[in-house]
Amino acid sequence: MKPFSMMLSMLAIGITSSAAMAEGASSLPNVSPANSDLVNRGAYIARAADCVACHREDYTGGVAIETPMGDIYATNITPSKRYGIGNYTEADLKKALQKGRAPDHMIYPAMPYPSYHGMKDEDISALFAYLQTVPAVDEEPENETDLPFPFNIRSLMFFWNILNVPSYENREGLTEVQQRGEYLTNNLEHCGTCHTPRDGTMGADNSKYLAGAQLGNWYAPNITPDEASGIGSWSEQDIVTYLRSGELDQRVYAGGPMGEVVAHSTRYLTDEDLGAIAAYLKVVPAVATENKVQPVDTSRLPLPINESITHDLLAQDDYLTQAKAGVDASSPEGLYLDVCGSCHGVNGYGQPDAGYAPIVGLTSLRRDEPNTLVNVILHGAEGATNTRPNMPGFADELSSQQIADITNYVRTSFGGVASSDVSADYIDNVAAGVDQRPFLIKYAGVLAILGIIAVLALIGFIIWNMMRKRRHH
Ligand code: HEC
Ligand code: HEC
Ligand code: HEC
Repeated sequence: MKPFSMMLSMLAIGITSSAAMAEGASSLPNVSPANSDLVNRGAYIARAADCVACHREDYTGGVAIETPMGDIYATNITPSKRYGIGNYTEADLKKALQKGRAPDHMIYPAMPYPSYHGMKDEDISALFAYLQTVPAVDEEPENETDLPFPFNIRSLMFFWNILNVPSYENREGLTEVQQRGEYLTNNLEHCGTCHTPRDGTMGADNSKYLAGAQLGNWYAPNITPDEASGIGSWSEQDIVTYLRSGELDQRVYAGGPMGEVVAHSTRYLTDEDLGAIAAYLKVVPAVATENKVQPVDTSRLPLPINESITHDLLAQDDYLTQAKAGVDASSPEGLYLDVCGSCHGVNGYGQPDAGYAPIVGLTSLRRDEPNTLVNVILHGAEGATNTRPNMPGFADELSSQQIADITNYVRTSFGGVASSDVSADYIDNVAAGVDQRPFLIKYAGVLAILGIIAVLALIGFIIWNMMRKRRHH
């Protein structure tokens, strides 16, 4: 199904982009000796706070944040006076970031101001100086946010803000490095907008701080130091490596939303700052959740066929042809060999030289809830740093039963799990996002807006109650 020629062309793409990468690896694109220190510091803050995730690399905005009420579009924040924030003073930017108030309207929490609330004044000054130097783009946005009543009443955010801003309190008793990590994690990088589940008002549920949350079809895993369900087994260096490169060989690849976080933001942070995040993640309260990662049972993992073969594309292809000849093409193993084998190899070790990921022992295969694995098969994976080829998705090519068969085969053969009985129904549910909590969407934080409904209902109830009492008298 995946012809060898396609594999070779993917390889070529991988090589050209890795050459391009090598030059600018982790230097910040917007930093230049021609700029003042203040501006360069602001460029760094913009990376660390990942403004470009939503406002795009040129800050013209336009990224849609999906919500059940309709899409909310990130706006143009270039210095354009007409379409951007050219008329903002530094105080205006501070209010927008810390309080969610633009000069003439309240901002929806699709913009993570509940996290930016704690941003330091000096960082906002630097950010302001930097944003002045970005080229102004005088263009009308393609799309404008147009939510239905009552969500179009922006001033209602006032009530939600009382309940949910700020998202986090600072902890006592942290070392200086851990405090820096806390600031980066909570107030700049806003890791919790994805990794912390929501409470009833759609604010952060801090009893499950960083303990994992559904994110559209994806699942942002538990990143507390719990051994079984979190990242307790990761060393600080593991965390730094992952945030710098988007991968930790033999364990995880950031191929979904996390790949974007690494690509736009964390790979640009200094070693010191990534180290601070890692040090802080080691001391957040461990929360045990149900979605456990089974420990690696090395006795169940396959051995690499032979070093020389896994590093030689043609030999690998030969080996694949031989392996296919021996099995029924419609069996789970036959399906794996046909669909996945050309890149990940007969035994899951892939072709590390060519950037094709070894998948033996990955946590995504060992999770009790294999939805990340299923999502990767359905939608593919994009390497965080362009140094790897992308993996295509197979949602249109394979039936749910075939995906279930491959999922089970991969988990038991390469994940070392004792048994796996994922069904076609499970695949359908992950694909449709059915087994998620009610309104989960790309940025779960946005759902916070639903809190408004609760407030409106409450106000309605109080008025109704008062009128009723009056009638009785
Ligand atoms: C998770 C997505 C996201 C991130 C990250 C984000 N923003 Fe936003 N931002 C939005 C959205 C969406 C809006 C529009 C919200 C609305 O319409 O109420 C917005 C609006 C704004 C506004 C108000 C503009 C106006 O209309 O006057 C400013 C200023 C702003 N963002 C600056 C920033 C800066 C600076 C950063 C980085 C520190 C940042 N944003 C990061 C999504 C984001
Ligand atoms: C846009 C949402 C989002 C943000 C913001 C985010 N993450 Fe993630 N993270 C995810 C998702 C989804 C995954 C699952 C893998 C993937 O997407 O590739 C993940 C995976 C991870 C993993 C791997 C855990 C495992 O067991 O496999 C770690 C560690 C992690 N994130 C840490 C962080 C840190 C630290 C931050 C803040 C600097 C952060 N994330 C910000 C969504 C996010
Ligand atoms: C065209 C080559 C190609 C094919 C075919 C392919 N993959 Fe991948 N796969 C990749 C690449 C490249 C990556 C690494 C992406 C990255 O760096 O984030 C990857 C990553 C993965 C991961 C790791 C993702 C994670 O977050 O844990 C898994 C699991 C995986 N593939 C399984 C499969 C399965 C199962 C199939 C068959 C249905 C398959 N792949 C088919 C190229 C391929």
